[in-house]
Amino acid sequence: MGFTVNYKIDVSKNIDELSEKVARLLQSGANDTEDYFTVALSGGSTPKIIFRYLAQNYKNKISWNKIKFFWGDERCVPADHPDSNYSMTKGNLFDEIEIPAENIFAIDGSNVPSKEAVRYSNIIMENVAIKYGVPSFDLILLGLGEDGHTASIFPNQIELLNSKNICEVAQHPELCQKRITLTVEVINNASEIIFLVTGIGKAKMIDTIINKKNDFEKLPASFVKPKHGRLIWMLDEAAANLMV
Ligand code: 6PG
Repeated sequence: MGFTVNYKIDVSKNIDELSEKVARLLQSGANDTEDYFTVALSGGSTPKIIFRYLAQNYKNKISWNKIKFFWGDERCVPADHPDSNYSMTKGNLFDEIEIPAENIFAIDGSNVPSKEAVRYSNIIMENVAIKYGVPSFDLILLGLGEDGHTASIFPNQIELLNSKNICEVAQHPELCQKRITLTVEVINNASEIIFLVTGIGKAKMIDTIINKKNDFEKLPASFVKPKHGRLIWMLDEAAANLMV
């Protein structure tokens, strides 16, 4: 199975510099679109810092009403639960900017997971452009776990990688917490996919995946290969520490 992937590696000095680049991507996406700029967000500690940067520095510099926000994954918990990706985004970004409620398409973590996977798939079909028969987000932001997971596709759930559905129900391998996740089928159909990876703790996994070491081909993040769009690894210097 070939693993030649076109991608760009963009290394920032620190997370503020990385956040500034994300802000400009959102700014240009919103300004350049005739319709809406569709974005699937990631959860995790890295996006939390980026969202806070956006709220503090781009509150009035981005046409937020031109962006439709979705999630690449969500924990199956109520919207006000501390684990909720929606709750984290609301608290660090949405509560600080002017964005119409109808532009925010949250995954309902309190719904029955199997039903929510279907419901959210339909929401995406209705609100995201279709390319080659599959929803195509303008931008998907992804994180990278130290185990090589991305979104909520974990190494022990490789069957999710072959799903032709838009969303699937996943489960955190240690916490056993159910998750709703976009599938690789949809992730790879995006116009732009960006991995946001910071911190020395991710350096080894970055080296493994980008430099194709050890069993990289078994890791979910290795399956992120844009079919027609572009892939950018946006790293800080710490996460890029092992990249020669
Ligand atoms: C989530 C994310 C998950 C995250 C990685 C990296 O819902 O937690 O989708 O895939 O991006 O675990 O998280 P950090 O940015 O906190 O390292």
